[in-house]
Amino acid sequence: MENLKFKENKLFIIDQTLLPNEEKWVEITNKEQAYNAIKTLMVRGAPAIGIFAGYSMAIFSQNNDIYELKNYLDSSRPTAVNLSWATARIVKAYENGKNLIEEAIAIHNEDIEMCRKISEYALTLLHDGDGILTHCNAGELATSKYGTGLGPLILGKEMGYNFKVFSDETRPLLQGARLTSYELEKAGIDVTLICDNMASFVMKQGKINAVLVGCDRVAANGDTANKIGTSGVAILAEYYGIPFYVLGPYSTIDFNCSNGNDIEIEERDSEEIKNLYFEKSTALKETKCFNPAFDVTDHSLITAIITDKGIVRPPYNINLRKILND
Ligand code: MRU
Repeated sequence: MENLKFKENKLFIIDQTLLPNEEKWVEITNKEQAYNAIKTLMVRGAPAIGIFAGYSMAIFSQNNDIYELKNYLDSSRPTAVNLSWATARIVKAYENGKNLIEEAIAIHNEDIEMCRKISEYALTLLHDGDGILTHCNAGELATSKYGTGLGPLILGKEMGYNFKVFSDETRPLLQGARLTSYELEKAGIDVTLICDNMASFVMKQGKINAVLVGCDRVAANGDTANKIGTSGVAILAEYYGIPFYVLGPYSTIDFNCSNGNDIEIEERDSEEIKNLYFEKSTALKETKCFNPAFDVTDHSLITAIITDKGIVRPPYNINLRKILND
């Protein structure tokens, strides 16, 4: 399932805010539209944001100062490292006199390869018929192909595995309901949608063999920033003795962050909680809301971090660096 197309120097994305009800492709023609597409989650999911930002930098730096453009796009969403990683890579290519479009295409193609490797590693930890719980959307809509958190399920389907997936709806933006269940249905994968507050009961019933989630930034000690609500799922998994796996490319590890407290957490408009997906407001106008988009899962709750370079197990402060040199 594609979320982005680059054709004849033109950039198109599927507007993910309209899914699953409408599949609408939109052309992005200027930097303001690119910023807005990331900010409003028309394009979302850490790797997909990075790929999109790579193309945006390559195209719109033709008419804009590349350094200002980088700062501008980076400010659209702060938590996922992939955004600033991709824009920095295009700036470096520019400084080295490389072709920027070719660099953006390389970022895109490398992501396909990374997602495939992550999925292959993850499949070594899973069994045909396993019950899987996932949170948010870390599938093809959030990446280039396969996905991270959903990658082993999508690749596994191609290879004949049958998983039973439970998708948390993921309040308040409902990526689990709107995107994950849509994407898995389309891939022919058995998926059951649950509200976020049902995860404990489903685990208690013995329906879950593993939790798989994507991630937006990994600190040097293995703390991970994930979609809001993920840390609660990790605490439940620990309680029920279910393996909790975080999946993401090696480039998601940010050694500049020593632990999760160093990761900037995006806070979004409170209207998303009360109004965005409801016909009528669910609370009074004056009711205060707190709407952090991500939370930090403590490394002690993570069974393994599955990257394109291999499966990393605790102690993360040693093994995350070690895998780079292996
Ligand atoms: O706010 P979103 O929809 O961009 O958040 C997405 C997630 O949290 C994903 O799980 C994460 O980016 C990993 S994507 C493979």
